[in-house]
Amino acid sequence: MREGTAQLIRREDYAAPAFWIRTVDLTFDLDPAKTLVINKMTVEPNAEQPGAPLRLDGEDINLLRVLVDGEPVSFRTEGSQLVLENLPQQPFHLEIRTTCAPEKNTQLSGLYTSSGGFFTQCEALGFRRITYFLDRPDVMATYKVTLKADKLKYPVLLSNGNLVEEGVLEGGKHFAVWVDPHPKPCYLFALVAADLVRREQRIRTRAGKDHLLQIYVRAGDLDKTEHAMNSLIASIAWDEAKFGLSLDLERFMIVAVSDFNMGAMENKGLNIFNTKFVLANPATATDVDFGNVESVVAHEYFHNWTGNRVTCRDWFQLSLKEGLTVFRDQQFSQDMAGSRSARAVKRIEDVRTLRQLQFPEDAGPMAHPVRPDSYVAIDNFYTATVYEKGSEVVRMMHTLVGDEGFRKGMALYFERHDGQAVTCDDFAQAIADANPGSELANRLEPFKRWYAQAGTPRVTARGSYDADNHIYTLSLSQRSAPTPGQPDKAPYVIPVAMGLVGRDGRQINLQLEGHLNSLGHDTVLVLSEPEQTFTFVHVPVEPVPSLLRGFSAPVVLEAEHSDDALFTLLSHDHDPFNRWEAGQQLALNRILAAVRGDGYIELDARYLHAMREVLRHPELDAAFKELVLTLPSEAYVAEQLDVVDPQRIHTVRESLKRQLAHALHEDWIWAWEQFHDNGAYSPDARSAGHRALANLALAMLVLDGSLRQNPIWPGKALQRFKDATNMTDRLGALQALVNAHAELAGPALERFHAQFKGEALVIDKWFTLQATAPEHDGKVFARARALMQHPDFTLRTPNRARSLLMALCQSNPAAFHRTDAAGYVFWADRVIEIDGINPQLAARLARALDHWRRLAEPYRTAAREAISRVAARPELSDDVREIVTRALQ
Ligand code: ARG
Ligand code: ZN
Repeated sequence: MREGTAQLIRREDYAAPAFWIRTVDLTFDLDPAKTLVINKMTVEPNAEQPGAPLRLDGEDINLLRVLVDGEPVSFRTEGSQLVLENLPQQPFHLEIRTTCAPEKNTQLSGLYTSSGGFFTQCEALGFRRITYFLDRPDVMATYKVTLKADKLKYPVLLSNGNLVEEGVLEGGKHFAVWVDPHPKPCYLFALVAADLVRREQRIRTRAGKDHLLQIYVRAGDLDKTEHAMNSLIASIAWDEAKFGLSLDLERFMIVAVSDFNMGAMENKGLNIFNTKFVLANPATATDVDFGNVESVVAHEYFHNWTGNRVTCRDWFQLSLKEGLTVFRDQQFSQDMAGSRSARAVKRIEDVRTLRQLQFPEDAGPMAHPVRPDSYVAIDNFYTATVYEKGSEVVRMMHTLVGDEGFRKGMALYFERHDGQAVTCDDFAQAIADANPGSELANRLEPFKRWYAQAGTPRVTARGSYDADNHIYTLSLSQRSAPTPGQPDKAPYVIPVAMGLVGRDGRQINLQLEGHLNSLGHDTVLVLSEPEQTFTFVHVPVEPVPSLLRGFSAPVVLEAEHSDDALFTLLSHDHDPFNRWEAGQQLALNRILAAVRGDGYIELDARYLHAMREVLRHPELDAAFKELVLTLPSEAYVAEQLDVVDPQRIHTVRESLKRQLAHALHEDWIWAWEQFHDNGAYSPDARSAGHRALANLALAMLVLDGSLRQNPIWPGKALQRFKDATNMTDRLGALQALVNAHAELAGPALERFHAQFKGEALVIDKWFTLQATAPEHDGKVFARARALMQHPDFTLRTPNRARSLLMALCQSNPAAFHRTDAAGYVFWADRVIEIDGINPQLAARLARALDHWRRLAEPYRTAAREAISRVAARPELSDDVREIVTRALQ
């Protein structure tokens, strides 16, 4: 296990390395129990730090010998570092031999085994678990890699770059030599040695170059690789067409592995993926899975330029590559979705994720800037803030300079920095410099506060209409609450995309006072002061302001719209995002009133009428309807409250859902009949939208039926579950039964397990489904706890552990937060147990109690006790220690 040294690392302490490593020649003699690694480097002293010792990082490896220019030298170790002194002042050869034990590596960082094969994960600090090295991203070298392994057990031998030689060795072994011509930091190194099969395709790009694309999976999974291959081909074409960035490798490989800590990894030319984000066919994967595969394949591919060709100077700059690459994959998925409405659906989904994951993070003990100032365990900073908020920061730059301006900015970024390890400042500077005179260039320094300050700003809007003079005045103000270590915040530069909507739905022409030109129906106001007023002239009728269209900035907007105004926006706003937002706000206001009041909720006719109108609307897309008709999540409701009673939120929201199910009964039947389908499966956005709405309708009908002891719809759902031609519909029907606690749910779950027992990713869904069912008399918690004993359950495979534990502790507040504290006791036991196996995974689970301070009693005290119990363990990893320490601070 990683030693708990708990050192705080600070961004301001950055210093260039004392040596550069220019070339690396690695030889691996692969054996699960003891792998020999011979690492031959050419090392060059940094002329700016003459005479400094060379300090190499290492972790959990055994050192055999060290040679400088072929001669043994003396060395010492300091902590986990290997220190060499009195080294030549010119370039020299350094050879280091070590061994490691891949089969004992349960943390899945470095070189490890999974299902009998060898795989690596080096980002962020895994390479030091393979060999001694300057394990930091600003040290870039070219790599030659020789792999030797048993030929029968490991027929496939892969590493970065191009295969230059292969052959057989004595003793049933074989070898392969790979050379990667592109200098790279060691976190992009990868190797795979396993028994795999592949799908491959040759393509010729617009640039006229030929490439070989390969996807490697286990033997039974080849029929699940077509979608990933199509997504890869589409990503390559998109990056060329959109940014002129083409594939710089002859061969591009993706490998699927079932034991993996995160989503996927962009190793140069050899992306390694969690199976969950590669494998998909209609029988085993849902529409959501298909969408995730498309976006993760694109994300990792796009890293080839944003991350690999230009990388990070240090890990504080992580968002340089992650925020930018998330922005790129989101844009790509929108383009793939096609229609304006389908693009808006994708945007709504992305914003929902941001609000569900990042806003709470920014409001809790782990709040950190997009570019953090310090960390203990960098793995804890692969966060929604660095990724999703980082993407929003890039999106705001895009908004401020326009699509063409952003393209120019990207071109300048690569012109300046290709082959370098740089900072977030360098990126922002390039986008601004390519767009002189733009709002971004004019306000670059204040804009960059988005990188430096943590927390979600709140923007308040107040409008007033002067009917006599046809003038509409809009005042916008911003404020930001303190976050850990940052008591005071300077104002942000906030692009507010907006329009004005008449009560009759007409779009009002925008003209600012003192300006001769009309701005059309849509504009972007830039709020950069604590408070600003914008005056619109020639406004013929009192308007409803539609603000923050498309969610143009990651802020909380307090528009204080009346119900009237929200109904106007819901039926008429030209911006689909704000239409959806108005519907959510209407539901949220009702839920909050009940939660703050006596807990009783009765839906008004006007709200129900509006929901019926959306559901039956002749022009709106099914996918959009499904989003509007889905109530805000319990987590999002909790975000709005200073004191959170998870049980109360759950009760109110469930009650609202039942009323919606009952009052719109006829309409749900209509929707089901209109949109359910038995035709051939296609993952496109339109068909997926139909399935989403049909499945929501079915869930509502089953819920209403179960509550009223009417077996008709539960029966229909069971039939649907049996007959479904794809996983989306099968799981949809099963979920409808499970979530309604229908009697038929039990037998259906058993049947599902029997049918898919060989499909690990489907069994994960089976666990999740049971752990996320709406809590009902404590039964869901009891069931989830019992599932720990199921023969298919294991803590060693992160997907499986997450499918049950994250589902319960993170995604099912009412099951987790119990007055008897059993959820917290269970949580603490699992965090401690998993920490001994896989600290990164344990630290993720540890975050489930981040927001304990806002919990109502008795939850608050019980949660603190559980966290304190974890924190009191002397042998915690740095990862978990950092999370629980921050939580208690
Ligand atoms: N760079 C990978 C990505 O594409 C993720 C690596 C995550 N590493 C970690 N230690 N959590 O987003
Ligand atoms: Zn990434």
